[in-house]
Amino acid sequence: MGKTVTEKILDDHLVEGDLEPGEEIGIEIDQVLTQDTTGTLVWLQFEALGLDNVQTELAAQYCDHQTYQFDFKNTDDHRFLRSAAGTFGAYFSRPGNGICHNVHRENFAAPGKTLLGSDSHTPTPGGLGQLAIGSGGLDVAVAMGGGAYYIEMPEVVEVRLEGELPEWGTAKDIILEMLRRLSVKGGVGKIFEYTGPGVESLSAPERMTITNMGTELGATSSIFPADEQTKDYLNRVGRGEEYDPLQPDDDADYHDSITIDLSDLEPLIAEPSMPDNVVPVREAAGADVDQVMVGSCTNGAYEDILPVAKMLEGRSINLSTEMIVAPGSKKASEMLAREGWTAELMAAGVNFSEATCGACIGIGHVPGSDSISLRTFNRNFEGRSGIEDDNVYLCSPEVAAASALAGEIVDPRDLDEDLEDPGFEMPDSFEGAEHDIIDPDEAVDDDLIKGPNIGDVPLKDPLGADIEGSTLLRMGDNITTDHIIPATQDILMYRSNIPKLSEFTLSRVDDTFADRALNADGGFLVAGENYGQGSSREHAALCPMFLGIEGVLAQSFARIHKANLFNFGVLPLEIEEDAYENIDQGDDIEVVDNVADAVRSGKEEFTIRVNDDWEATGVLDASERERDILAAGGKLSYVKQQHEDGG
Ligand code: F3S
Repeated sequence: MGKTVTEKILDDHLVEGDLEPGEEIGIEIDQVLTQDTTGTLVWLQFEALGLDNVQTELAAQYCDHQTYQFDFKNTDDHRFLRSAAGTFGAYFSRPGNGICHNVHRENFAAPGKTLLGSDSHTPTPGGLGQLAIGSGGLDVAVAMGGGAYYIEMPEVVEVRLEGELPEWGTAKDIILEMLRRLSVKGGVGKIFEYTGPGVESLSAPERMTITNMGTELGATSSIFPADEQTKDYLNRVGRGEEYDPLQPDDDADYHDSITIDLSDLEPLIAEPSMPDNVVPVREAAGADVDQVMVGSCTNGAYEDILPVAKMLEGRSINLSTEMIVAPGSKKASEMLAREGWTAELMAAGVNFSEATCGACIGIGHVPGSDSISLRTFNRNFEGRSGIEDDNVYLCSPEVAAASALAGEIVDPRDLDEDLEDPGFEMPDSFEGAEHDIIDPDEAVDDDLIKGPNIGDVPLKDPLGADIEGSTLLRMGDNITTDHIIPATQDILMYRSNIPKLSEFTLSRVDDTFADRALNADGGFLVAGENYGQGSSREHAALCPMFLGIEGVLAQSFARIHKANLFNFGVLPLEIEEDAYENIDQGDDIEVVDNVADAVRSGKEEFTIRVNDDWEATGVLDASERERDILAAGGKLSYVKQQHEDGG
């Protein structure tokens, strides 16, 4: 049986398991990336592992999410990250040098390699034939220490592209079409592998717009073959020697197959407030637009901004509309400036932002209340722009530019007969921002620099024989990671200060919880269905652990959060509805019968004694590896032990 591109890369990196969908596999990681809001914890965890140096081929630390140093805590975080990169041997990309995915693809991404990153859009370099996956920070820290990355083998789904894009059709319309068809849940447990004759017509940057936004489908990753287009891009960024051709075998076997005829596509737009609310632009046309933003890791490249500059050259944007260009990398900014395009855009009425995530997560350029913002970004969840009653639409740079000219949403085909499709063009070479990545060999610091806001990572003791404590909080169904640890700007700055951050734990449910938990001698959380849904945020497990939470009893758990509970040594037990209904806040809970040994031995059912009066059953659904991690007190202790044992 022939192999897919995904299977070829996984085969080359497999250290444990079989490539059967649903089976747990362990893979070797070649490259890691991390960014500023997740990176501080990653390095604190790496330090706690007791290792001297990064063990992967390459590690890169970016400062992109919060680059405006409006508080000393942000600046201290950046300085700590620079010192960690210098101390442990990672590249350091300075604040303002650009968004991790853009800078990584320009400098490091390579076909056939594996990449693990503590950011959900890590799959971006799949457009260069790299197998790239986003994960929690602890997995990244462990991979940097040379440990394997474990994941359930996803289904590999073929996306067959036929034909070529029509005039005004763009790569953004291809991924919006995928979202229109499959929805934001359509990629869960899947890797989308692009094949077919339409692939050849797409340049590597266009492919990376698609792989970037594959994350919005919920996919584990997305990938293209490595071919002449890949080679062409690598030559232009000055890394031609890293080209390694990679194609699926003719008889490769895919789990499923989807076909898109590119010639059928037209300009599309995602309406508020979900990336899969996709309609033709013509259906949304006519709505007044207050703000237009071109940028982000999806459409912030030089090649994305160039068509906008060509469309606006010699024209002026509508007086009722504000337009901001936020390049994805400083290299893109510098190239646009050197070629005179920055001046053309400014003359048309455009303002420029530094190369940062910024507005994508509500930091700067927050839209006016109940106004329309048209963005080339990848997400438009309600409130993400920084205001609850936002109306954010997602579209291609070409639709954004046309709408800025019109002052209303418009399909560029309907705007003006003289407006020509600028087409897609790449520069001969990418040159600029040469001074903004610090090579590990030229490290500025070789000691960690921790400001007062940067603390240590708390470690948990190994599981004991009996676990007991009070029910510190009883919650309902669908508690999200946002409920557990909010991600608002005033709290974000404490992500490297766990004691301080923990004060906000579950404050949206009960603002006395953190205080009560700290003063109690261990305790439990009780919840209904789907506890921990939402993001992969590991602080949602780490902070309760810091406050002394020993276990969570819930009717069901969200998958990633449950994995995070294992990683931080918190016992997740599933309970029946009856038991949930009968446990009250304040009840004493005891999990009995030599818990540590039982967890290790594979026991699934545990006795829970409530108020020394009645008993319920808690079910532990965990792999052998997860049981060992839990019994050790969490993944840090587990991996540390393995290193000490020479394993
Ligand atoms: Fe940054 Fe937004 Fe991408 S936060 S990494 S630009 S999705």
